[in-house]
Amino acid sequence: MAHGHPKVVLFDLLTALLDSWTLWNQAAGSEEAGRRWRAKYLQLTYQCGTYQPYEDLVQQASDAVGLPRSAPETLLARWDELKPWPEAPGVLRKLQSQAVKIGVVTNCSTELGRRAAATCGVTFDVVVTAEEIGFYKPRIETYTAALRVLGVEAGDVLFVAGSSADVPGASAAGMQVVWHNRVQLAPLPGTTSPLREGRTLEEALQDFI
Ligand SMILES: *[C@@H]1O[C@H](CO)[C@@H](O)[C@H](O)[C@H]1NC(C)=O
Repeated sequence: MAHGHPKVVLFDLLTALLDSWTLWNQAAGSEEAGRRWRAKYLQLTYQCGTYQPYEDLVQQASDAVGLPRSAPETLLARWDELKPWPEAPGVLRKLQSQAVKIGVVTNCSTELGRRAAATCGVTFDVVVTAEEIGFYKPRIETYTAALRVLGVEAGDVLFVAGSSADVPGASAAGMQVVWHNRVQLAPLPGTTSPLREGRTLEEALQDFI
């Protein structure tokens, strides 16, 4: 792809486009408890591969850090309160105005993934959830499913990662990858570097839009 002109930009949903941290923290009762729960979730699910119900994984992680069952129940009950990062809707609309297709590839159940995507207020050209594909990221099947739906080549696609495991995952599918690292997560050991890393979506996408 000519640098700066991807035909398609695909996003991680729950970390790159949405601030899901705030809702997890609220459901857990404090930022500290929410972070611990989320870290355990990531640890339990790191390369979990084959799809297992998202809601079960969320609950297992909550149990594992000793939170009450009300924490995952609250998270799911308040799911539609998820909010995009402040600049996200504008960035998505700008891409659409440039005739760039937009989509998400999310580690989520189909139902919760679609509801979360709807909070961005735009119509995505493709929404791929782990449940429909039968695998979680960074399995290559999740990224290539989006290519198949859109009928595009990986070389025309820029992927915006939410966590560092997305970087080798989407790169292996042949996409260019940048990382919107909002909360300054440390890269997982051994992961490749993104083309660019930014603390906001604008910064991550700077060379491309
Ligand atoms: C989801 O995706 C990320 C990034 O590829 C990965 O690190 C994480 O462990 C995945 N699995 C689940 C179940 O969320």
